[in-house]
Amino acid sequence: MRYNQSIQVKAPATVANMVCGFDVLGFAVREPYDLMTLRLREEPGILIRHKDSFGLPEAATENVAGVALMALMETINTPVGFELSIEKQIKPGSGLGSSAASAAGAVVAANLLLGDIFSKEDLVRFAMHGEKLASGVKHADNIAPCIYGGTTLIRSAFPLDIITLPSPELYVSIVHPQIEVKTADARSILRQQILLKDAIRQWGNIAGLVAGILQNDHGLIERSMEDVLIEPARSILIPGFDKIKQASKAAGSLGGGISGSGPSVFMLSDTAEKAGAVAQAMQDIYQAIGLEHYTYVTTINASGVEVLA
Ligand code: HSE
Repeated sequence: MRYNQSIQVKAPATVANMVCGFDVLGFAVREPYDLMTLRLREEPGILIRHKDSFGLPEAATENVAGVALMALMETINTPVGFELSIEKQIKPGSGLGSSAASAAGAVVAANLLLGDIFSKEDLVRFAMHGEKLASGVKHADNIAPCIYGGTTLIRSAFPLDIITLPSPELYVSIVHPQIEVKTADARSILRQQILLKDAIRQWGNIAGLVAGILQNDHGLIERSMEDVLIEPARSILIPGFDKIKQASKAAGSLGGGISGSGPSVFMLSDTAEKAGAVAQAMQDIYQAIGLEHYTYVTTINASGVEVLA
């Protein structure tokens, strides 16, 4: 452990739920990502500086990366401190795992500065404190793919049971309409009881999606990306959602849906050309509505948080 040593990491955006797998499935993408630099200090305490203009709190107890680092520090005996600088490119409230990227990037960097003493599962557990602060719930379906990379299944959050799945060779088109949806709000509108017939349909789809990923069966992935529980409630928060889905299908995508708690929408395609056409179709819809938006055409990120220097 060398005081004053610093490390720079790239923490990727993540797409949680993968349509049918609410709180249990997620994957990391190559773009967008946050850049974070962490320095180990001899003086205890956590100093956080945001080099972006999102106005996020910098007090450690109010910052998702801060509380994740605090959870990590509670488990070590040596008193250390950290100085963290965050350059966010993943907009908060985008549905692209912005809070997860901050929390995961911070704990991965801290672990490396401390001599790689924690397992990935430990790091997920620390970073989940950030999700609790951001949304009131310690869900791991953004954190786990951000730390492990690729596609992950959270069979259980308590106790943690994370299964890494192969990353299908698929292209990801994302549209991010410039409205903010807070995960806590998007969770508060969900019904707490569901019908057995809907549950059966949903777990059939989740099992089908996992099997489709394992077998690299694009047809099965396509059929399984259906959500009868969450999407009907949440899609009303996303302008033009049904049109986006229809137009994306027409442009050749395998399907997709709300990214995390929205408002971003993602679609999977089996070629880069189709993914480009899908992004264009999404863009056309928001241009017609007159809603500002960003689009990304990217791929699944098998590495998760990456060390830059
Ligand atoms: N599974 C979480 C939700 C992800 O849908 O509320 C939030 O990014």
